[in-house]
Amino acid sequence: EKELVIGMFGFGVVGEGLYRILQQTPSLKARMKKVCIKHPGKKRNAPEDLFTTDKNELLFDEEINVIVEVINESDAAFDIVSTALKNNKNVVSASKKMIAEHLQEILDLQKQTGLSFLCEPAACASIPVIRNLEEYYDNDLLHSIRAIVNGSTNFILTKMFDENLSFQDALLLAQQLGYAETDPTLDVEGFDAANKWTILLNHAYGIVVRSGEILFSGIQNVQLSDAKVAKEKKWQIKLVAQAKTLLNGKVAAFVLPQFVEDEDLLAFVKNEFNGVVIESGFADKQFFYGKGAGSMATGSAVMSDVAALRYGYRYEYKKLYHHKPKELTNDFYLRV
Ligand code: HSE
Repeated sequence: EKELVIGMFGFGVVGEGLYRILQQTPSLKARMKKVCIKHPGKKRNAPEDLFTTDKNELLFDEEINVIVEVINESDAAFDIVSTALKNNKNVVSASKKMIAEHLQEILDLQKQTGLSFLCEPAACASIPVIRNLEEYYDNDLLHSIRAIVNGSTNFILTKMFDENLSFQDALLLAQQLGYAETDPTLDVEGFDAANKWTILLNHAYGIVVRSGEILFSGIQNVQLSDAKVAKEKKWQIKLVAQAKTLLNGKVAAFVLPQFVEDEDLLAFVKNEFNGVVIESGFADKQFFYGKGAGSMATGSAVMSDVAALRYGYRYEYKKLYHHKPKELTNDFYLRV
C-alpha cells in the first residue's frame, strides 16, 4: 500500500489538529515529513527537526506526495497550491478565503494537471458537506440549502442571547478556543461565511463567482432590540447562508442574519456547531450537523481528505462540466 507522505504548510489551529490526529491514527499510514512555518522561534509541541522555513524543502521533495496547506495568508496559500499541483503533488487545503478568491484558477489547475485538490476542511469543518453536495444531488433536484457555516458567529450569538455574555466577552472566548479567524472581523462581518458559501455553491450548482458577488452581511448590525424581538417571539437570531432554486432555474443566494423559529432545524445549532438543511427531490429534507470550527474538528476533515487521496479521490465538478451550471441571481432579495 502506498504510503502517504505529507508536507504541511502552517502549524496553527488546524495544522496542529492534523498533527495530533495523525499521531493517534497510525493505521492511516500517513506520515508528516516536514512542516513549513513562518516564525521559527515559536514554541511548538512537536520535534524541532519537523519544521523548516524553506517552502522548497516541501514543494520539491520527491518523497512528499501530499501537500496540506493550512496557512492564513491567501495569496501565499494560492502560490503554494499552484506550485504543488504543477509539481505533481495532490493538495488538501483549508484556506476558504484563498479558494473563494481563486476559484476559477484552481478549477483550471485541477483540469490541467488531473490531480486532486480537496478542501473539505474549508467549509463546515467536520461536516462532509462538500463531498455531499458534489456527489449526492443531481443539479436539477436541489431545491434549497439553508446553513450555518461560521462557527464563531454562531458561538457569539449563542453566548450573547442564551447566556447573556457581552459581544466582546463572547468573541474573546471564541478566539481563545481557536474558532475565530486571526482577523476576527472576517467572521463577525460575514466575509468568512461568504467565502464558504462561494465554495459550496460551486460544488452544489457549478456556480463560479467571487464571494463579493454574493449578498452578505455578518452579525455586526445585530442590535439588542433585535434580540428583544426574538425573545418575545421565541425566535433566535442566526447568521444564515441560503440558496434557493427559482422557477426560472436560476439560484438566488445570500448570507444574512435572520430570525429563525424555534422549530427550525437551524435553531438547534448552537455554539461552534454548524448545520446544513438541504431540500431536494425524492430525498426531501435532510439535516447535517457537526462542529464547524476548532482544531480537532477541522483536523478531522483534513485527515479524511488525505485518506481519500489513497484511492485517488478527486472532485468531478459534474454540475459544472457535465450539466448546464446554474446561474446566480440577485432577484430573490428584491422580492422578499
Ligand atoms: N473562523 C471559522 C469559523 C473557522 O468560525 O467558522 C472555521 O472555518
